[in-house]
Amino acid sequence: MLSCQQLERYQAQGYLVLPGFKSAPELAALRARAAQIVEAFDVDAHRSIFSTTDQARRSADAAFLDSAEGIECFFEEEAFDAAGQLRQPKALSINKIGHAMHDLDPVFERFSRHAALAELAADLGLVDPQLWQSMYIFKQPGIGGEVKWHQDASFFDTTPPSVTAFWFALEDATLDNGCLWVQPGGHRGPLRERFVREAGNPGATDTLRMQALDPTPWPARSQAVPVPVAAGTLVCFHGLLPHCSAPNRSATSRHAYTLHATDGRGQYAEHNWLRRSAALPVRGFTARGGHEKL
Ligand code: FE2
Repeated sequence: MLSCQQLERYQAQGYLVLPGFKSAPELAALRARAAQIVEAFDVDAHRSIFSTTDQARRSADAAFLDSAEGIECFFEEEAFDAAGQLRQPKALSINKIGHAMHDLDPVFERFSRHAALAELAADLGLVDPQLWQSMYIFKQPGIGGEVKWHQDASFFDTTPPSVTAFWFALEDATLDNGCLWVQPGGHRGPLRERFVREAGNPGATDTLRMQALDPTPWPARSQAVPVPVAAGTLVCFHGLLPHCSAPNRSATSRHAYTLHATDGRGQYAEHNWLRRSAALPVRGFTARGGHEKL
């Protein structure tokens, strides 16, 4: 599906922008399903806050670990006031839904296990693709949280490195509402850190911490480029590509959906946070039960 030029660009830049990869009805179906999941979500029972700036808070969050095999909503960091009440309606308070919708929800599975995406993953070199994670990211108006510079390979450590990100714009992503920023060519640099899961005390939740690996600094502003894209665009990028996104202080949300796939030919590190039990084994693009791709 990719031309030689596109493949060369991906190899040189570490990312590729594919406008019009998803149709308006496909985007609408995913958005509607996400809205239903949020509607059914009980705020009081789950007050987990997703934060990339406070690893300790995330470490303590058992809901985060459980979401490896579930469908969990996480709040924006600024969602609550000092008294612990939501500052805005629930539907405008959720940072993201994660992390197994592609395996557990038929609408998400249809969007994710699509023949065109399977073909693209093969073109990018994923011979035995394994779809570990799905995230629906809201980047809510006004309070959409910043995502600091990182490399996705920190969270999906494999030998050799193989994790590939598929980032679907469900709405227009602009400079104002927090589009992606990347460092073109930065995927040829080292992995700077890795996110490590360790067993806690007996009976306690496992702990999570970021471990420094390489002192190479994150890109300077002059090395970074924004990737504003229209709804329906797929941005795919290499797991070592440094990327980030700014907070959303605009009045417009920036919904996106991401999938992360590794190549099963390599070794998936035991310290990776996202683990699957025998009840929900990691799969590729083949639908459950071994049927043809959806
Ligand atoms: Fe990322």
